[in-house]
Amino acid sequence: MKKIHINIPNNEYDIILKRGAIHQLANHLDTSRKIFILTDTNIPDVWVNSVSNQCTNSIIYKVTPGEESKSFQTYEQVLKAMLAFHMSRKDLLIALGGGVIGDLGGFVSASYMRGIDFISIPTTTLSQIDSSIGGKTAINVGDVKNIVGAFHHPKKVIIDFDTLSTLSTRHVNNGLVEAIKAGLIHDASLFKLFEQENYIDQLETIIYKSLMMKKRIVELDEKENGLRKTLNFGHTIGHGIEAYYHLEKYLHGECVAMGMLFFLEDETIKQRLMQIYIHMQIEIDTTYDTNKVYELCTMDKKTHKDMISIVRVNEVGSSYIQDIKMIDLKAIIEGGSHEK
Ligand SMILES: NC(=O)c1ccc[n+]([C@@H]2O[C@H](COP(=O)([O-])OP(=O)(O)OC[C@H]3O[C@@H](n4cnc5c(N)ncnc54)[C@H](O)[C@@H]3O)[C@@H](O)[C@H]2O)c1
Repeated sequence: MKKIHINIPNNEYDIILKRGAIHQLANHLDTSRKIFILTDTNIPDVWVNSVSNQCTNSIIYKVTPGEESKSFQTYEQVLKAMLAFHMSRKDLLIALGGGVIGDLGGFVSASYMRGIDFISIPTTTLSQIDSSIGGKTAINVGDVKNIVGAFHHPKKVIIDFDTLSTLSTRHVNNGLVEAIKAGLIHDASLFKLFEQENYIDQLETIIYKSLMMKKRIVELDEKENGLRKTLNFGHTIGHGIEAYYHLEKYLHGECVAMGMLFFLEDETIKQRLMQIYIHMQIEIDTTYDTNKVYELCTMDKKTHKDMISIVRVNEVGSSYIQDIKMIDLKAIIEGGSHEK
């Protein structure tokens, strides 16, 4: 078993990394507590039933899988179900699933009775690599991503690599994009793992290294005043592309993969990254309407007075933040990700 301690003042918690941990919850939490298990209808029974069988005073609530559940409608339905289960301020929510369940469950926990405990059991590469730590929780407004939310940290994160055994290859690779991002911005050794033929054999190391990188950043800058912004590398245009396709055609990581290509300063890095995408069968779409993608980017949280903070990678493992005019972002989108 590996343990990573997140040391944020008033919000310290452990990430447990252990194969089989999902079947041994009593080692990590008080399973006799009243527990609301939030999950989605795609999460295999083998995981859901295991959690619910161990938690003797629990209820399972399943939402529709995918981005559409990061909505006000689903948010309200979950809150109503919690009320109906008579959840008090002392009770616990377990978010069992991918980043959607983590973001939704985290926001529900942040706001229900002004905040209750939640524990995350992430079951996708994306959520094990990235979204389950750092305290960002959110839902979408229409097609605009993560525009309503709160900082609310889990009490614990339980990562069982075995849960990934039921995940589709597309979703495995989608989540790995966040690890490639982590490597590009802060850890060259992590990026290099993806240049190996058998990168998938390194999955546990990839997840561990990505979490260690994110831990360092969020401990230094929890509320994203500076350094943490580098984690948004690829996300500005990525979110625009994701919204352009109504959060349906491409997955989050796939859009980040496209978004990162715009902000690499070195052509060699771009070539290396494209080779990784080919190997992972990640598609690069350039057929969207650049004006519409730009319009969607203007709704980004990182805009201020016609300026926007973007992140550039100058060499593998090294990144910096730059404030540019929105109009310059337009030119970057129009320039395309392949031409530079
Ligand atoms: N809060 C953050 O810091 C942060 C960071 C990055 C991304 N995100 C958010 O994460 C979300 C994407 O997360 P995701 O890629 O995990 O998507 P997801 O939660 O939609 O999960 C992907 C799909 O896999 C299924 N699934 C999950 N675990 C499974 C398993 N073990 N076996 C079989 N099927 C399984 C789900 O039901 C779903 O259909 C986006 O909304 C994104 O905005 C948040």
